[in-house]
Amino acid sequence: MHARSWSLRVATPDDAAQVSALLDRSYGTIWVGHYDPDLIATVRPFVTRANPKLLASGTYFVAEAPGGLAVGCGGWTHEAPGTAALEDGVAHIRHFATDPDWLRLGIAAAMLRRCMAEAKASGAVTLFADSALGAEGFYGAFGFEVQGPTAPLINGHALPGVLMRVAL
Ligand SMILES: CC(C)(COP(=O)(O)OP(=O)(O)OC[C@H]1O[C@@H](n2cnc3c(N)ncnc32)[C@H](O)[C@@H]1OP(=O)(O)O)[C@@H](O)C(=O)NCCC(=O)NCCS
Repeated sequence: MHARSWSLRVATPDDAAQVSALLDRSYGTIWVGHYDPDLIATVRPFVTRANPKLLASGTYFVAEAPGGLAVGCGGWTHEAPGTAALEDGVAHIRHFATDPDWLRLGIAAAMLRRCMAEAKASGAVTLFADSALGAEGFYGAFGFEVQGPTAPLINGHALPGVLMRVAL
């Protein structure tokens, strides 16, 4: 049985292994039922690799349980995922995940609130999230609205998602 307490901190490059393991636990479990199993197996090694640039950004967070286990991760950047494009007043949510054993405890909510507050303080007026299928309800709970389907290519394979947007 887990102690159900956790705290949020800024991620560092030293978190790479922990964050990769967390992304793998999360996507490998929660995406089942939302994605074709063969597609999960194909893209999993690529989408669960912690992004070193995010870990060093100062705007990527880890939720840590007592003992140091990472049970949540996520952040925001001005750079768009994939292209690194910059647009005045625009920010992007990046690589969110909660441990499947730690869902619905407010972990992702705490990270998202922090991202929204920081992005707004930095001058962003619009925040986008490339939501995975199944995560629309989470972003919707914070005022994000569906813009349309997305299908970024992951090592040549289209991974369906939903582009969502909120005004800050
Ligand atoms: C989406 C995700 C990050 C949410 O994490 P979480 O820590 O369980 O979310 P929270 O506990 O902070 O939820 C806050 C609120 O968001 C909403 N919410 C969260 N998950 C939801 C879901 N699956 N469906 C509908 N609403 C949801 C609820 O309103 C919830 O409040 P409540 O529990 O009081 O009802 C998690 O399900 C996850 O890791 N999914 C797999 C990875 C993924 O797809 N990440 C997003 C990539 S863009």
